[in-house]
Amino acid sequence: AKKVRIHHLQQLKDRGEPWPMLTAYDMYTAELFDEAGIPVLLVGDSAANNVFGYDTSLPVTVDELLPLVRAVTRAAKRALVVADLPFGSYQLSPEQALATSVRFMKEGRAHAIKLEGGRRFAPHVEALTGAGVPVMGHIGFTPQSEHNLGGYRVQGRGEAGAALIADALALQEAGAFAVVMEMVPAEVAKQVTHELKIPTVGIGAGPDCDAQVLVWQDMAGLRRGKAPRFVKRYADVAGALSGAAAAFADEVRRGEFPAPEHAFH
Ligand code: KIV
Ligand code: NA
Repeated sequence: AKKVRIHHLQQLKDRGEPWPMLTAYDMYTAELFDEAGIPVLLVGDSAANNVFGYDTSLPVTVDELLPLVRAVTRAAKRALVVADLPFGSYQLSPEQALATSVRFMKEGRAHAIKLEGGRRFAPHVEALTGAGVPVMGHIGFTPQSEHNLGGYRVQGRGEAGAALIADALALQEAGAFAVVMEMVPAEVAKQVTHELKIPTVGIGAGPDCDAQVLVWQDMAGLRRGKAPRFVKRYADVAGALSGAAAAFADEVRRGEFPAPEHAFH
């Protein structure tokens, strides 16, 4: 199948066709989501919470994420694979952002990178796009700034809406090919989507963005407990896996597994 390129995503926006994006952190999910026709896979720094067991995205490192990026790019035949730059790996300077991105593209074989931040990161985005690295922006609620933003809160309400639009426009001007908007009022997301030429990717940003992204463990119901309002569960993978493990345990304890057909003679 033909590889998804950034201009294809632009064409989808121009035609008014919404597109889906999912996170992926390993081979099997990348393969399945790619075959299901998900055009963009994000190896998110949300691996911190959803793979490594940290309580926020802040601790995860480039060295931890790189093997996951490599696994996803090995497995995906068609999808555009975006690597998320983790906290501390790009904020220092455009030079640091480029050095980290080069690692994700050379060692991870990523096709693009994503970084969090608005206007203040325009120089970083410009350095990357100038060097041939496609950049996806990320504004609104940016988890790496959780402590500065005062926790998980909707961003861009009221007066802050104008700042959000300015951030989005600055990223576009700097050469970003798309912008994620996380937890912003649907009305503001709609306006940004209208004002931007490039696609917007919403998560908790209402129905009018050009694309929608979810963390796959939320989407498929692997993560248990209370999910944020913007999550919809499309499966019960946690139920399926715990049921399978319990059935296996039960059959071993009863002496029912392995059966004759599972043994060599
Ligand atoms: O890390 C992540 O999963 C993300 C998406 C939610 C956009 O940044
Ligand atoms: Na992220």
